[in-house]
Amino acid sequence: MTLWGGRYRGSSDRRMRRFCDSIAFDHRLKTVDVKGSIAYANALQQAECISLDERELLLSGLQRILQEFEAGEFLFVEEDEDIHTAVERRLTELVGQVAGKLHTGRSRNDQVATDLRLYLLEQIALLDGALAALQTAIVTKAQMHLGVIMPGYTHMQQAQPLLFSHWLMSFFWKLQRDRERLAESRKRTAVMPLGAGAIAGHPFGVDREALAAELGFRAVTQNSVDAVGDRDFVVEFLAWAGLLQVHLSGLAEDLVVWSSREFGFLAVDEAFTTGSSLMPQKRNPDALELMRAKTGRIVGHLVTMLAVLKGLPSGYCKDLQEDKEAVFDAVDTLCEELRLAAQIVLTLQIDGDRMAAALDEAMLSTDLADYLVRKGVPFRESHRLVGLAVRRAEDLGVALSHLPWEEYVAIDPRFERDLHGVFDFEMSVNRRTAVGGTARGAVETQIARAQLLLNHTRSTRE
Ligand code: ARG
Repeated sequence: MTLWGGRYRGSSDRRMRRFCDSIAFDHRLKTVDVKGSIAYANALQQAECISLDERELLLSGLQRILQEFEAGEFLFVEEDEDIHTAVERRLTELVGQVAGKLHTGRSRNDQVATDLRLYLLEQIALLDGALAALQTAIVTKAQMHLGVIMPGYTHMQQAQPLLFSHWLMSFFWKLQRDRERLAESRKRTAVMPLGAGAIAGHPFGVDREALAAELGFRAVTQNSVDAVGDRDFVVEFLAWAGLLQVHLSGLAEDLVVWSSREFGFLAVDEAFTTGSSLMPQKRNPDALELMRAKTGRIVGHLVTMLAVLKGLPSGYCKDLQEDKEAVFDAVDTLCEELRLAAQIVLTLQIDGDRMAAALDEAMLSTDLADYLVRKGVPFRESHRLVGLAVRRAEDLGVALSHLPWEEYVAIDPRFERDLHGVFDFEMSVNRRTAVGGTARGAVETQIARAQLLLNHTRSTRE
């Protein structure tokens, strides 16, 4: 059965049909499609487009279809072009001609846009939960290893000592922003296009506000032309996904590098690594490598969608059907990655000794410059003086802390005997006490704030 058979004399080309059909992927909208129809049947009855009996008949059929979907008993047939057609075909089989009334004033154009938004709203809730779980894993791990010091890197060169927990917590805040952005784009996703019809609006006066409330939308679209062609919410979602993916790839990369033998700062639990078919000693971080690589496809989905939308004429065009696979794949990929990332973080084996062994004293040069600053030397000057000391130590082939005091005094008399107190990694870390710094106390405060945020979002979601 096609929904548009009337004006056609013959049947359509099979290959064209296969090319155009979306059932292979949009079957994933099955539950939301039926839920949308249930609410729409109610709205039609309230607008007196259908009788109470007709509504009951439609609802019984739709409920049955839901059950069939849940039990995996719904049988798709060759002619099912997309999920909307499939549901209507089955409804006709179940309740007869009255099924044809359900599409009164509705087009697949407003229907599919509504379905996709409903689907995405469900997935956004799941993704937010998965993000919170990863944040929780990060906080738990940061608390477990509080006090472990590691080199902090800029340009991938040793820069300043850091608490391992401080590095790890840096990902908490990236994910926090991801959650904020998700909540923000959710607002624009939760706007209902249903009632826009094909392009011009609803001719039977359905109460769209009531319909929206029943479906859990927070508002209705204000322009039917915009409503059927608008996929901004898809672009926003995919852009959001792209940035989250970039964050995950960064986490993955740090872990891949630090679990290498050269660093050995940590080990990824065996359960999340694989061996080599040739080299018996290998423990490859495949899952993390893929987490790095998935960025290609997620960013690709965003580019796909922008390219599909670019230059489209107003209203609905079949081009828009291309939105769904991008969304489905982004959702699946990210859900999987977030769950894996939480497990990987929780089971990381941290090697504090290896981290300590890697700490190069040169990283305390800034602390030495700060030492002079505390004696009133302007930072620019102290930076230059310490630079001279670094060069002198290099010339003599000694570490900065082993450069004799006389050498320091020769560079500047404001270096005093207490300067050697600077060469202590723990003290260096613990001097960074300002909010957001790596001092143990500051990191404890940071973790407490993170936990507050987690508890807050937990209670608002419940
Ligand atoms: N499968 C279509 C899509 O995903 C449903 C909407 C079809 N509308 C139409 N006028 N052909 O966009």
